[in-house]
Parts: sequence; C-alpha cells; structure tokens
Amino acid sequence: MKLKNVGIIGLGTYVPEKVMTNFDFEKIIDTSDEWIRTRTGIEERRFASEDQATSDLAAEAAKKALKNAGVSVEEIDMIIVATATPDYNLQNTACIVQELIGAVNAGAVDVSAACSGFVYALTMAKGLVASGINKKILVIGAEVLSRCVDMQDRNTCVLFGDGAAAAIVTEVEEGYGMVSQFLGAEADLKGSLRTPAGGTRKPLSQEVLDERSNFIQMKGQDVFKFAVKALPKATLEALEQGGFKAEDIDMVFPHQANSRIIESASKRLNIPMEKFYLNLNKYGNTSSASIGLALGEALEKGLVKKGDLIALTGFGAGLTYASMIIRWSY
Ligand code: UT7
Repeated sequence: MKLKNVGIIGLGTYVPEKVMTNFDFEKIIDTSDEWIRTRTGIEERRFASEDQATSDLAAEAAKKALKNAGVSVEEIDMIIVATATPDYNLQNTACIVQELIGAVNAGAVDVSAACSGFVYALTMAKGLVASGINKKILVIGAEVLSRCVDMQDRNTCVLFGDGAAAAIVTEVEEGYGMVSQFLGAEADLKGSLRTPAGGTRKPLSQEVLDERSNFIQMKGQDVFKFAVKALPKATLEALEQGGFKAEDIDMVFPHQANSRIIESASKRLNIPMEKFYLNLNKYGNTSSASIGLALGEALEKGLVKKGDLIALTGFGAGLTYASMIIRWSY
C-alpha cells in the first residue's frame, strides 16, 4: 500500500479577549512585572471569560481553520483535540467541539500529552490520513489553564494562559507536508508537573480542596532542566529522521513556556534566535495551544512561505516531548 503524502492546508487560532497583565498579578499575589518578564519573557496572557470552556475556544479556532483551508465542516471525518484542560473528566472535548461546529461526519477523540499534545495529535492525524483511514482531520490544541492553576501559587499562576489553535490535515502534493517526526516520553513519577488530585489516584474531597491539590503544581527547576535538553533533542531526532541538518531549518516553532529555555535550545542546536518564533510575551504558556498559536500568527504575518522547512517542537508534563518537520505546502 502506498502511503499518502500528508500536510496542513489551513490554520486558525483563537484567544479570549480578556488580557491579564503582569501588573494585574502584582495586585493579587506577591510578584512583580520585573520578576515575571526577566525569568520567563511573559508580559501578559489571555484568560477565558466565565462562560467559556476549552471546547468553546477550540470551536472558534476550528471555524477559522476551516475557513482558511476552504474546507466545509461536513468534509471533516475526524476531530483530534489535544488538551490538558478538558471541559469534563469524562466525555472528551472533541465530541463537544463536533457539536459546536456541526461536524456531523467526524469521529472525535482527545489526546493527552500536555504541551507536546499538538505535535502528538498532528502525528496521529498524519498516520490516519497517510494510511487512508481518514481524509480530512481537524487537529486542535486548546486550553483553559486559568481555571486549573492556583491563583494563590505564584510559582505557577503567572505562567499560564488560555487559547486554541486548529489545523486541517489532509493529503498534499508530493514533496511537501509532514516530512518526519519524533515522539518521546520520560515518565515523571515524582510529580514535577501534575495536578495531584481530582483523578482516580486521589479523588476530589474536602481534604483536597483544603490543601488546594486539585490545581496544577510544578517544580519549575526540574521541568526547566528537562526542557533545555528535550527541545533540542526532539528537534534533532526529527531532523535526522528526515535526513536534514539543523542549518536546513527556516523556522522553529517551539512550545512557548519560557524565553530562557528557547535561548538555550538555540545555542545547543546552533540555530540563531531569529529563526525561533516567539509570542509567549503576549500569551504566556498555553500548553497544547502554544505551537499552533505561534505558527498561526507567523502565517498571518507572511513569515512562512511555500517550500519553507519548519520544525514544531513541544515539551511538557508527562514528561513528554515531540517534534515534527514540515515542508510548508502553501
Ligand atoms: O509547559 C510545560 C513546561 N514548563 C516549563 O517549561 C517551565 C519550566 N520552568 C521555568 O520556566 C522556570 O523554572 C520558572 C519560570 C517556573 C521559575 O524560574 P526559576 O528561575 O527556576 O525560579 P525558581 O523556581 O528557582 O524561584 C526563584 C525564586 C524563589 O524564591 P527564593 O526561594 O529564591 O526566595 C521563588 O519563590 O523566585 C521566587 N518566585 C517568584 N517571585 C516572584 C517564584 N515565582 C515567583 C513569582 N514572582 N511569580
């Protein structure tokens, strides 16, 4: 069986209107704009409104992706939502998106790989289209992290933001599209980055609520040490699989967690910072949405053109890390 050649034919992004600046955080916790900016590069982030859940953000991004790709919603035969912050513990977010956008002919599944989720989901979509199982897949990375962080914990609450990005994945012409990829994981049993309670290990209880362990907890330095190795490693592994070298890359779209992590990766990979697209100053860490939000913005600015070789690289809770090399097809 000859595998089909697969790529992205349209992207859409959405961020909620509410802007939460570092100065807004100064009013509610013991922090400063200076600390947040110098340690992370983040200046502001977007927070969902009270009536918005992850599926609402995902649906907005999806509608834009469909429009940009010139694809009708009925053509979509699979929806894959990467998220760490689903609407519900039981019932996948993809099914709710299906209803919100009217994708009546689509299967629907969620992928849980935190900040690497978008790349994991794109890779799964590639496999499904390449093998002929599906024809047009809507891949979405979407998060409402503002509702899952502890607004009393300055170690985490200033870092994260809400947003969504969607891509239409289908067959593209030979010589273009998703060339190679790497999917990795290193189980983190110490809990460097996890929500300790609210799952089956420690169900919700009064004790959980009192100790606030139903919110995301992170040992920042442990994750930082992992991230500065994972970002270059995943990118290099994916490049190698495609027969490329670091200098062949036109642009890298890294997970937007911390500008210091990206600067370190730039040095390790010997790829200049100008080739890394950063927008974490405006949106903070939006987990599975961040890579798509960056790529969507770069496309709107005309910074990615047909024939460009780009890398999408994520790293995050799990711990997971993943990278995909794409020869851009439009
Ligand atoms: O998306 C998944 C991947 N996630 C990441 O990649 C995150 C990786 N980690 C990081 O980006 C960094 O570790 C952080 C930005 C989270 C923290 O930066 P750091 O340079 O590692 O700081 P730290 O955790 O070592 O904390 C240094 C100090 C501490 O005070 P003491 O103990 O030195 O007195 C913290 O209590 O900074 C303090 N601190 C803060 N101060 C003001 C921590 N958070 C804040 C804050 N405002 N928001």
